[in-house]
Amino acid sequence: MKRGFLGGTFNPPHMGHIHAARAAAEQLGLDELYLIPTGEPPHKDLPEDTATAEQRLTMTRLAAAGIPNAEVLDLEVRRKGPSYSVLTARELLEKDPEGELWLLCGTDMFLTLDRWYRADWLLKNLHIAAYPRRAGEVPDLEEKAAVLRMRWGARVELIRLEPMDVSSTDVREALKRGGGSEMVGDEIYAYILRNRLYGVRPEPEALWRLTVPLLEKKRIPHVQGCREEAKRLALRWGADSIEAERAAILHDAAKKMPAEEQLRLCAAYGIIPGIGADTDLEGADGTALPPEEFAARYPKVLHAFSGAAMAWGMFGVSTAVRDAIMWHTTGKRGMTLLEKIIWLADYIEPTRTMSGVEKVRKRAYEDLDSALRLAMQKSLEHVTERNGTPHPASLEALDDLKEKERKK
Ligand SMILES: [Fe+2]
Ligand SMILES: [Fe+2]
Repeated sequence: MKRGFLGGTFNPPHMGHIHAARAAAEQLGLDELYLIPTGEPPHKDLPEDTATAEQRLTMTRLAAAGIPNAEVLDLEVRRKGPSYSVLTARELLEKDPEGELWLLCGTDMFLTLDRWYRADWLLKNLHIAAYPRRAGEVPDLEEKAAVLRMRWGARVELIRLEPMDVSSTDVREALKRGGGSEMVGDEIYAYILRNRLYGVRPEPEALWRLTVPLLEKKRIPHVQGCREEAKRLALRWGADSIEAERAAILHDAAKKMPAEEQLRLCAAYGIIPGIGADTDLEGADGTALPPEEFAARYPKVLHAFSGAAMAWGMFGVSTAVRDAIMWHTTGKRGMTLLEKIIWLADYIEPTRTMSGVEKVRKRAYEDLDSALRLAMQKSLEHVTERNGTPHPASLEALDDLKEKERKK
């Protein structure tokens, strides 16, 4: 059997790994390819806000899902002490002593291969496949391959591929800056968000891709409109426009779910419907309703709290974004700028056509509080006309705005 293995910290695994592993498996005709995350890496120290070994394993499994015949082995993670390739290779060879075992390595590793621990053993017992990490590295690889063949009698092949020029360090830096999703792919990115790894700051475009499948088809233009409107309002009123986009994209993400599931989300991420993430257990009306009762009494409000829970627990947003989603339906006393922007964006975004929306739309760019007061008043009238129960936080929000207007 022809098998190959690619070791690494996979912190996190990225498209460069996937691309190289795919090319190697195909060009060498491997029956099996193993991705093997290191335990304690002998080659580099891990940064502080890093993923645990268990998290690296999970992410590597997500990466392996996109590579034919690939499998993730946890033998280095389970083994205590440094991850020497020779120990791993011996363990793999024992399972199939007659077969070919290929060690896959990128440029940096390959160029220093003859200095690795027990390099003599590795070069004698394994086949080596080297691939370029960046453009222009092939001549160095060829030169090194010639030396290894001549000096050690090594069996070396070069993998031909268009290098992707991405490293885990690049990925971690991009994640911190609010990008990086395209370097790891959406599944790993979603995992990173869910676990808040590497100081990730959610990238609006990736949030959009991850959220669209959760939305009812007819709601997509509304959410897209809300995203654009929120960004415009943020730029107009000096709020963080990326935070506004994040909140707008996610604001209705839980709306399609059955109420029980929404209540589970709230419970899982510490959000109390009607109250929020605070733990003083006092609702806007001075009482905390049992969650099921809340869902029955305010069916149209529940998704704001479950959406906040989802954004917080699954998409790694800030508390400011979480709270803007939480209060996007009712509003509340003492709203932040971002909360006001999301509430209004939801009300005036371009696909909205209810009567009077034009007036609010215009005013939103002239006087934010006055636009909000006008819109909240209309929306409360709408609820009462339909014999709905306004949520106490909505009444308080309106009172608050009126008070402020009087004091002006
Ligand atoms: Fe909503
Ligand atoms: Fe909405």
